Amino acid sequence: MEKKVSRIGVLTSGGDSPGMNAAVRAVVRTGNYHGLEVYGIMRGYQGLIEDDIFRMDSRSVANIIQRGGTILKTARCKEFFEYEGRKRAYENLKKRGIDGLIIIGGDGSFRGAVNFSNEFDIPCIGIAGTIDKDIQGTDFTIGFDTAVNTAVEAIDKIRDTMDAHDRIFIIEVMGRDAGYIALHSGIATGAENILIPERKTDMDAIIKSLLEKERRQKLVNLIVVAEGDDFGGANQVQKILKDKLPNAEIRVCILGHIQRGGSPTCIDRLIASRMGYHAVESLMEGRYNVFVGIQNNKMHYIPLEKAVKNKGKISEEWMKIVKILALINITNKRLLKQV
Ligand code: F6P
Repeated sequence: MEKKVSRIGVLTSGGDSPGMNAAVRAVVRTGNYHGLEVYGIMRGYQGLIEDDIFRMDSRSVANIIQRGGTILKTARCKEFFEYEGRKRAYENLKKRGIDGLIIIGGDGSFRGAVNFSNEFDIPCIGIAGTIDKDIQGTDFTIGFDTAVNTAVEAIDKIRDTMDAHDRIFIIEVMGRDAGYIALHSGIATGAENILIPERKTDMDAIIKSLLEKERRQKLVNLIVVAEGDDFGGANQVQKILKDKLPNAEIRVCILGHIQRGGSPTCIDRLIASRMGYHAVESLMEGRYNVFVGIQNNKMHYIPLEKAVKNKGKISEEWMKIVKILALINITNKRLLKQV
């Protein structure tokens, strides 16, 4: 399907992530540099279907690199799951002569792009934008670093009050299918337990260690839970623990959408700028239907259909680090096994 592109569209789709604006800026400015016409599409695939499309120039992306959210707005569009919806989207692109599409979003958005590019003559390039970091083939996704730093800042604050009261705190972070935010923020804040969807949690072992702490009158414990863990989030975990430790003071804090907003970190601005630039270059070079990822600090172009959820890829080593670093009294490997 190789052809020269002259007009390209850019959209943001799925859950927003801090740094999406920086990526839009990079796409528009790189496109303009190469003499391409760049069109912004509002509300992801929804705007494509509804023909909510407008011309962008370099000035229209001034002063947005530092802003969270997305100036193009975003949506999860059910109509695009259907062939009829995708056909309408294609007709709108055709009508305007747009011959290349850049999609900034997560794996769900990429799946839509795969169907679209298989059915219609529109080359698509993905840019990995999701706070969940659950796209295979890239070390970074736009927004993850900001989200995880937001979580760390919040958990640090909670730790102060947790410690002052000798309480158990269960903090829920985002991640319906992926535990990366929980794992990274949990290790970075010294959590004793981290519960993630990719791993089966040994709740008996957690209860045993808490009972032991209670016996030693040292019942202070930080538990970080991904929203999609085995038990269904922090409130469910609290119920289970309350049952076994009726005298313990257990508090829950759900961080929620605070993790999706805010000014992107330097890392997120940087990777968004690099990915946006390379997405346009990729279209220019005729490398189609791939997404732009970064591996070992180098750009990689991965077929869009390979962008499946990264479930189950959490390394044993990371889990071992969580356990070992949470130990205060145990120095013996044999005892570690019992924790
Ligand atoms: O995919 C990003 C994400 O933030 C998930 O971690 C979370 O489960 C989901 O989006 C929440 O989506 P919504 O904003 O639609 O409630």
